[in-house]
Amino acid sequence: EDLKYQFLINNEWSKSTTDKWVNIFAPETNELVGSVPAMSQEEVDKAVRLAKEAQVKWADTPVHERSNLLYRWADKLEERKNEIGAMIALEVGKSPSSAVGEVVRTAEIIRYTAEEGVRIHGELMKGDSFPGGSKNKLALIQKEPLGVVLAISPFNYPVNLAAAKVAPALIAGNTVVFKPATQGAISGILMVEALVDAGLPESVVNVVTGRGADIGDFVVTHPDINMISFTGGTKTGQDIAQKAKMIPLVLELGGKDPAIVLADADLEHAADQIIGGAFSYSGQRCTAIKKVFVIDTIADELVSKLEAKIQKLKVGKASEEATVVPLINEKAADFVEGLIIDAKSKGATIVAGGSRTDNLIAPTLIDHVTDDMVVAWEEQFGPVLPIIRVSSVFEAIELERKSEYGLQASIFTKNVQDAFALVSKLNVGTVQLNGKPERGPDHFPFIGVKNSGLGVQGVGRSIESMMRDKVMVINL
Ligand code: G3H
Repeated sequence: EDLKYQFLINNEWSKSTTDKWVNIFAPETNELVGSVPAMSQEEVDKAVRLAKEAQVKWADTPVHERSNLLYRWADKLEERKNEIGAMIALEVGKSPSSAVGEVVRTAEIIRYTAEEGVRIHGELMKGDSFPGGSKNKLALIQKEPLGVVLAISPFNYPVNLAAAKVAPALIAGNTVVFKPATQGAISGILMVEALVDAGLPESVVNVVTGRGADIGDFVVTHPDINMISFTGGTKTGQDIAQKAKMIPLVLELGGKDPAIVLADADLEHAADQIIGGAFSYSGQRCTAIKKVFVIDTIADELVSKLEAKIQKLKVGKASEEATVVPLINEKAADFVEGLIIDAKSKGATIVAGGSRTDNLIAPTLIDHVTDDMVVAWEEQFGPVLPIIRVSSVFEAIELERKSEYGLQASIFTKNVQDAFALVSKLNVGTVQLNGKPERGPDHFPFIGVKNSGLGVQGVGRSIESMMRDKVMVINL
């Protein structure tokens, strides 16, 4: 019974009347971590309806009070960072230090949101800027919340990526229906417990859990949901985009971020960044480096540096602070193993790794990857790094432009002019010069183009994405 968590509606934690549960198993040990309610559509309906009812009052609450709630929430989270961190570590199989780090980073995002939110002001436009318009016509443009935001978070940052949606929604005056990914749901529930503890008014955030097949489409298409902020896989994101009707969407989906290493790059630095970018948390990050384009004159040197650094990676248990850890589930490990087998069968060289023990895939470096191999294109979300040797930067650009993804890209070069020229050719949200891809610092705009997403996140942009203009024209 202790392992059975409850859902939250109207600040009451309840069990589902269905008495059905979704079990969550630890990736490291395969042991049961706990269960979350498999809610019925009726229960989800209630969660959405009550969030809608609560929204009017919440939007009327002075923004500085909404901001104060967020500050209190951040404090409560930090007070419980070890406990919540331990749950994240267990539930999604990440190292305790990075899990606690996630909670701290989350508190920082919430505080920044509390600060940013009180500085949102509208604007005033005068009519005479447009031909024939009059000075006596003034537009007062206010910022209004959208209503009820549906926040759907992924497994890999179950607290951080949830709060990065909930906090901006709240500061903007929206109420929230929060649907965590199953793996990570308990951590998400603990995060909301801290929010309730901080003084959350009733139904300003309701939590729904359950099986996607039962409640997924129902909640996404619910007529009282006014905006969806989703982070997760591309296929699910596309499905949401097709089903949700005429409401704003922010989608942060898959990636295949390239590291493009030019002939003049500082190879030692590039190799360090590539290793960190590709292998931390076994590459289970949307912004992980998922392929390397390297100019062939320096490819041998880069590959041998990467190989040496891979040998030094700590591989094994997340609970023992390993970098390369078992993947979230067997299906993920099967997929990644399949990519290695495919590349090998088509003539690639396995420079390091290649083996699998249960769901732990050894950090794998695959050289001489060509465009007929699946690993050149599909998102691995695992500790496998393909090296694609190119004769020129133009070849790299040409290949990159064929990618279905466009989250971030890294360029390694000492020549800023070359980097600038390259930036304009890359159809991605962000280009990192001489650094690995990453979302943070969390106030930077975070954008995926092509199949990597829709809309922009990052604290300020996330708040904007959850508000609309309301115009009042004054005719003097
Ligand atoms: O998995 C997607 C995350 O938004 C990536 O965040 O760059 O902080 O790991 P990160």
